[in-house]
Amino acid sequence: MTSREYTGPAIKVNDLSFNYKNLKAVDQLSLEVPRGMSFGVLGPNGSGKTTLIRLLVGLLKPKYGTIHMMGQPPSRKMSRYIGYMPQLASLYTELSIAQNVDFFARIYGVRNRAERRMQVEEAIQLVDLWPRRRDSIYNLSGGMKQRVSLACSMVHRPPLLFLDEPTVGVDPKLRVTFWEYFQNLNKQGVTIVISSHTMDDAAHCDRLAFLREGRIIAEGTPYELRQATGQSEATLEDAFLYFVVSMEEGNESK
Ligand SMILES: Nc1ncnc2c1ncn2[C@@H]1O[C@H](COP(=O)(O)OP(=O)(O)OP(=O)(O)O)[C@@H](O)[C@H]1O
Ligand SMILES: [Mg+2]
Repeated sequence: MTSREYTGPAIKVNDLSFNYKNLKAVDQLSLEVPRGMSFGVLGPNGSGKTTLIRLLVGLLKPKYGTIHMMGQPPSRKMSRYIGYMPQLASLYTELSIAQNVDFFARIYGVRNRAERRMQVEEAIQLVDLWPRRRDSIYNLSGGMKQRVSLACSMVHRPPLLFLDEPTVGVDPKLRVTFWEYFQNLNKQGVTIVISSHTMDDAAHCDRLAFLREGRIIAEGTPYELRQATGQSEATLEDAFLYFVVSMEEGNESK
């Protein structure tokens, strides 16, 4: 995993498909995520973002296709190299913030107590909840729970982070802090896959995939995607709509 010889992409997905009964949630999707970048997955409700992330972290098994992380197929051993923040926080509501973050550090294998204490503090500081570390989750606001969930996903300092809409409900000031932190992690070689609806998040990503009905309709840097519209003033929202319309026109002419 940390092998110096491996020089390929952090994540490589080939022809991935997943159905819930007869609903195609992820449909023949291929993707490469280079190492050390923030890769955004953007798409409307139901486009398959959560399903894709759950496939990547190994919580769902693909119907077809393959996934490789740092050149290796998914395995139990990989889980300590992966951090996952689910869309809906799965925290122990009767435990405190610090106990929750510590619990995740333990299950992800941070055994050394002193190290764990340091990493737990760093993660809670990042989400700006250190003064409230002894509060139980039950007493927190929605946005605060979201922040604890982010702290839990990264407390073991994984080289691969999968964040499912981490900025939802997070106030603008803290969102700026999050992005500074993510970019800092990228500089240290951490690869981040992040799903979002907001163009604010999208603009921070190094590369983006636009998702629709389980398929990638466009992929590139934010600049490339905006340029593809042919309009110099185009926003990422304009770019998304441009690709949706192009795809629909393509389908009609078939
Ligand atoms: N457990 C499930 N059982 C059946 N269908 C599901 C299940 N989870 C998701 N789906 C369906 O799969 C499709 C993709 O859902 P998914 O949750 O991956 O979308 P999403 O892009 O994450 O949406 P959102 O932006 O609302 O989070 C949707 O049509 C959804 O209804
Ligand atoms: Mg989702």
